[in-house]
Amino acid sequence: MQDDIEVTVADALALAELAAGFRTWPKPAALFEGFARRAQAGDVVVLVARIGGVVAGYCLVEWRSSYPPFAAADVPEIVDFNVLSDQQRQGAGRALMDEAERIAAGRSDTVGLRVGLYAAYGRAQQLYVRRGYVPDGAGLTVDGAAVPPGSTIVLDDEPVLALTRSLRLPDSQRVRPVGWHPAGQRDAGPKRPAG
Ligand SMILES: CC(C)(COP(=O)(O)OP(=O)(O)OC[C@H]1O[C@@H](n2cnc3c(N)ncnc32)[C@H](O)[C@@H]1OP(=O)(O)O)[C@@H](O)C(=O)NCCC(=O)NCCS
Repeated sequence: MQDDIEVTVADALALAELAAGFRTWPKPAALFEGFARRAQAGDVVVLVARIGGVVAGYCLVEWRSSYPPFAAADVPEIVDFNVLSDQQRQGAGRALMDEAERIAAGRSDTVGLRVGLYAAYGRAQQLYVRRGYVPDGAGLTVDGAAVPPGSTIVLDDEPVLALTRSLRLPDSQRVRPVGWHPAGQRDAGPKRPAG
């Protein structure tokens, strides 16, 4: 991770820089203008990451999620988390998540997010699992509704898995993947049946 990464709340200049930086992504300038309005209304916090002073990426903390289970539980959602391709794998993503979680923790014990399922989301999936995010149990959802077994769906950006992370539990109490061992301790494994 580089030591010249800076994450701040985005001001008008940063939003203009983001719009310019992401112009080759499917992210029109109007999107960033909308962020400014939503931030001013207090609905979201927009964070921008810079590496060596150059805009690298951004994400939003959305206080009232559009995903009904998060909204019902007052779980803020981290949305629109993106780092420019040529600035990836230098720690900007991690720095954005650190700050987004810190801000969410000011109002909530839990933070949520949703992630797509095809390979373009692969890095994000790995990053979330390594940070301790756990599926919310609803399975695959489209537009906030669970997809019933046997459904035929198009695998675009719409089918997503929702994940949450506790912002209060100490590391030792977080849900861990099967086979995880604290500080190198060995798991005795399941006991063999007697006989
Ligand atoms: C997900 C995403 C935002 C991550 O951004 P990023 O800036 O690359 O994230 P980081 O650099 O903090 O971490 C990513 C990886 O780079 C590694 N990394 C960080 N600094 C590094 C360095 N100096 N050298 C080598 N690797 C490094 C991290 O360890 C991590 O690797 P791992 O996944 O194997 O653990 C970015 O990949 C992205 O924009 N993806 C496309 C959009 C997307 O999927 N968004 C999420 C929607 S839900």
